[in-house]
Formats: sequence, structure tokens, C-alpha cells
Amino acid sequence: MKKQVSRRQFLKGGLAAAAAATLPLGLVEVSWGKNNPKNFTFAYISDSHLTHIKGTEFVRNFDKGLKKAVMECNFMSPKPDFVVFGGDLAQLGKKEEIDHGLEIMSRLRHKVKWVVGEHDFYLDMGEYWQKKVSPLYYSFDHKGVHFVVLNSILTYDEWVNRWSSPMERMLNMARLDNPNGSPFMVKEEQIQWLKKDLKAISKDTPIVVMSHSPLYKIFKPWNFWTEDAEEVQSVLAPFQKVTVLHGHVHQILYNQIGNISFQAMMSTAWPWPYPVSYKQKPNQVPKLTVFMNRADPFKERDATGWSILNLEDGRVTNHYKLWENKDRILKYDKEKGHLVDMEYQDPSKRIPPQTHY
Ligand SMILES: [Fe+2]
Ligand SMILES: [Fe+2]
Repeated sequence: MKKQVSRRQFLKGGLAAAAAATLPLGLVEVSWGKNNPKNFTFAYISDSHLTHIKGTEFVRNFDKGLKKAVMECNFMSPKPDFVVFGGDLAQLGKKEEIDHGLEIMSRLRHKVKWVVGEHDFYLDMGEYWQKKVSPLYYSFDHKGVHFVVLNSILTYDEWVNRWSSPMERMLNMARLDNPNGSPFMVKEEQIQWLKKDLKAISKDTPIVVMSHSPLYKIFKPWNFWTEDAEEVQSVLAPFQKVTVLHGHVHQILYNQIGNISFQAMMSTAWPWPYPVSYKQKPNQVPKLTVFMNRADPFKERDATGWSILNLEDGRVTNHYKLWENKDRILKYDKEKGHLVDMEYQDPSKRIPPQTHY
């Protein structure tokens, strides 16, 4: 039922936008607001982790997650302006996995913007990705919004060159709770590029940055972490409306640091628990985040899904499409100056945790 209501809302918004677009130019509002033709929608699919077994065999559950998201994107109304894939298309960066992912994604009826994840990268340091999929970092403009894609999963050269084979390196970056891993970084070259890229952009232009790892620090032992995040944040700080969208954490997670709103995308493959629930350490998840229920292990799609993102007034409203759980909506609250969950932000309305027997 909930799904139908939100689809109707999208349809309504689309019609209003279409109507506004037919007005004589002089009557179209310059500033963004409700029913502004500049408002638009795009979709976000992330962390599919397609896993090659042998020959033409792949782990079917992960294939199905990506196929389901692709199918749902194809039925979106109004159509998304484009679809973003947020990284970790492959599990171990193998050519078979990347090719297989491209094949499934080719069924989308929309243009795709690609973000690279560590699982796509550390077998050959992004060589095949750049050849077949996309550059590792770039920017583009869309309806008055400046989008920036960063490769945030780089790390120290010493770590990269430490391993006896590319697969050993890949396997050591692929694990979640891994003492042999290494923190993610954007690194100086890209930070300099970002500074240059943003030089000509006016400070009131909405900026949407898309990276694989969160561009802030959550929990280092699991690499929910970008080592030089503060440097990137300081480049973004002068802009009035900044949203960072990231994958990697496979859960609902959001935060606000100064002018920057951070939103995590779901995985189509599996959920990660919140760090606190696993480590029994003090909670390092941002206070703002209303945790989603712990996934029910008897439902293989629980705590997985994808997102519909609406750009309204230069801010990103995130409609989490959760397959075995209640959809959630995150929206920037102008008065509060941060993101809020439209239904559950108020502590008295939080979702009680699921009980498993
Ligand atoms: Fe992932
Ligand atoms: Fe990842």
C-alpha cells in the first residue's frame, strides 16, 4: 500500500513539472521550489557483489538482487533522469564478474553513472573497470546541479605493493572485519582535481558528491572510514547545499556535518549489521541515524534494496525501497538544518527492534 502511495506522489510531481515546463519562459520560477521544472528524480543501485563460481555460474541470490533492482528502475514513473551504480558490482574484481554485471545493467532503459568500489578495484587496480565501465573520477552537470564522482577507495602505496599476487591483495581488501586491511583514501591528486573542478562553480549551486565509502569516519576496523575525509569536506565546505551519497555500508545510515548531508545507499546483495551491534563497543554510528531493524535471517531480501532520489530545491530526498522491510524517506529539514527520517526521526516514533526466536 505504502509503495502505491509513494508512486502516486511521484506521478503527481511529474505532471506538475511537465505542466510548469510548458509555461512561457518568463513565468517559470527562477528559484527552485515545489513544482519547479528543475526538480528531477534519479535512481541509485549499489553493492551487488556479483560472485563468479565457475564457467558461466554465478551466485544466484546476488544476481537476483541486481536483476530485481534493474526491473524496478525500468518501471519507475516518472522515469529517472539517470541511474547511478554505487560500486561493488563485482565480488573479487574478476573480468567475468564485471562483464556479467554490465550484461545485467544493460537491461536498464536509462543512462548509468558509475562509481567504483573496492571489490571492483583491487584485483587489477581499476584497469578493467576503466577499460570497460567508466573513468574512476569525473564530474557532470544536470539541471543546475553539479555532480562529482570520486574514487574514495584508494589506499597507501605501501599496502598495495605488499602482496605476493593481485588476488591476495583483493582478498585482503574484500573482508569486512579484517586486521590486514587498509583505510580508504581519496588522496592528494584527486583532492587537487576536485579543487580545480569546483573553482568555476558558484557557491549557491547544489553539489552532489557520489563516492563508494562514506566521506566521513564511522568505524575504522570495518573500513566504514575514509582516512582523508576531512580534507575533502573542507573543499566542499564553502558550498551552500552539499549532499554526499555513498554505498559500501549496506545499511540505512545518514549524517550531517556542517553544510554536508551524508546518505548511505542499500545493497542489493546482503545487509551489514551496525558496527555497535556486532562489536559491543560504544556506538560510533552518527546520532542522527535511526537504525533500521536488524535483518531477519529467514528472509534473504531483508535489509536489502535500492533508492529513488528526488532533487527538490537542490537537496536530495532519499526514498529507500526496501524489499522485506518498511520503505523509509530521508529529507533535508530546512529549519533543523539536517536530514530527517520523515516517519521515525522523533524518538517516540522509533521502530521497535524485531524479535527473533
Ligand atoms: Fe559492498
Ligand atoms: Fe565496498
